[in-house]
Amino acid sequence: MSKTRYALVGTGGRSGMFRNAVLKTYKDTAEMVAYCDTNPGRVERARQHARDCGAEVPGFAADQFEEMIRQTRPDCVIVCTRDCTHDKYICRAMELGCDVITEKPMTTDEDKCHRILDTKRRTGRTITVTFNYRYAPPRSQTKQILMDNTIGNILSVHFEYLLDTKHGADYFRRWHRNKSNSGSLLVHKSTHHFDLVNWWLSDVPELVWAQADRQFYTPHTAARYGLKGFGPRCADCTETSQCPYFMDLTGPHLGGIYRDHEHHDNYYRDWCVFLPENGKTFDSRVDTDDTMSVSVRYRGGAILTYSLIAYSPWEGYAVTFNGAKGRLEHVERETSYSSGDGTTPGALVEEHSFNEIHPHFADEGYRPKLWTGTGGHGGADPVMQGYIFDPDNQPPDPYLRAADQRSGAWSILIGIAASKSILSGEAVRIADLVPDLEDPDYPPMPDGTEPLPIQAESICP
Ligand SMILES: NC(=O)c1ccc[n+]([C@@H]2O[C@H](COP(=O)([O-])OP(=O)(O)OC[C@H]3O[C@@H](n4cnc5c(N)ncnc54)[C@H](O)[C@@H]3O)[C@@H](O)[C@H]2O)c1
Repeated sequence: MSKTRYALVGTGGRSGMFRNAVLKTYKDTAEMVAYCDTNPGRVERARQHARDCGAEVPGFAADQFEEMIRQTRPDCVIVCTRDCTHDKYICRAMELGCDVITEKPMTTDEDKCHRILDTKRRTGRTITVTFNYRYAPPRSQTKQILMDNTIGNILSVHFEYLLDTKHGADYFRRWHRNKSNSGSLLVHKSTHHFDLVNWWLSDVPELVWAQADRQFYTPHTAARYGLKGFGPRCADCTETSQCPYFMDLTGPHLGGIYRDHEHHDNYYRDWCVFLPENGKTFDSRVDTDDTMSVSVRYRGGAILTYSLIAYSPWEGYAVTFNGAKGRLEHVERETSYSSGDGTTPGALVEEHSFNEIHPHFADEGYRPKLWTGTGGHGGADPVMQGYIFDPDNQPPDPYLRAADQRSGAWSILIGIAASKSILSGEAVRIADLVPDLEDPDYPPMPDGTEPLPIQAESICP
């Protein structure tokens, strides 16, 4: 059997999941043929990892991307670079005859989104957007409960996502702190959450209204902690012994990925989380928000109320679905981590996670046994890897979790619309950003036409 040939662009923290999958877990069906990055140190680190796995993988500079494709003839390019650069690699890879697997968010603004959709149409290649969150067993169970019509058709959703002070603070240390890199947390991070809601509902958004602010990661908060000489980065800071947000880059994981290679590109992964918006250099500026609230109207009528904060004591989320027959409360807690620190990112904390069903007219709710799994992002990453790298040996997927450019677009467009709404104070229509966007393939859901059950004892005598 011939193996699928992969080239990977962007050899940073997240690339490890793909590199390990191709070089180790799925080495019988997959082969890594090239690495590419703007940072030669990280390319070399990835090459050494490949050697440790018994493979010799050539490395290429970012401006050699086309040459890399011509020389190494990959079937598929895995895009794992900064969000704002995804479009460039997605489009060029398809134009050069490759399929694409891209990390979320698919891209960061509506013009780039247009370009990706046009290039996909023109070239006929495939795009997979790695919405790993869908594959976490507790979230697949949520989808099953909703598909089973347990609480009827969904009228409203309340989704509160909590990034804790370890993981959440990281977005103010890294490239994500600049909206020009990440499209803001409403695109970079919330694309996962908006995609989950779109998929859970099997529906698409129409109208978006939002507010946001940076309220916590500010010089004022540093002053309240008693931190006086903070910044500009942890490595040079005089307050490290008393700062709860000190990021130590000297360890083998974070040091190996970032600190050892910062002399190549002057990218520092430990910028102070408290720096002001008008910092002296481009990278020391921070303009992303830590407190966000979004309201979304879906085509089918459901109304989503969403909030995201980046300074919670615990990591995870609570989501509630209010249906015509009852209510589903789903809470998932995950372990705390910093991206690239060598620990499992967001492992499921089972004892604090549940799906709880409250039928109308019942005195008590009940909790079906939680579907659980191990591995990154609530147990999602290993399940998704199987479907991507060894699809022929996976069971049929009743939840249609594999996502393409349509799901990639619908989810980012909520965040992009939200960002426009924050600026204008007005509601924004998704169709005004990208008209005629096709619906994704979603499983059928209760349509709200069936008669509703009434229990005799619930009627007043
Ligand atoms: N699905 C998930 O759960 C998940 C988790 C983490 C990250 N991600 C996504 O993965 C991607 C990478 O994130 P990360 O945490 O690895 O970031 P990172 O900073 O660790 O790595 C990014 C890499 O891209 C390289 N790069 C930057 N600009 C480039 C360019 N123009 N051309 C080529 N290479 C370039 C950098 O040198 C770096 O090696 C992001 O899109 C992020 O949203 C997804």
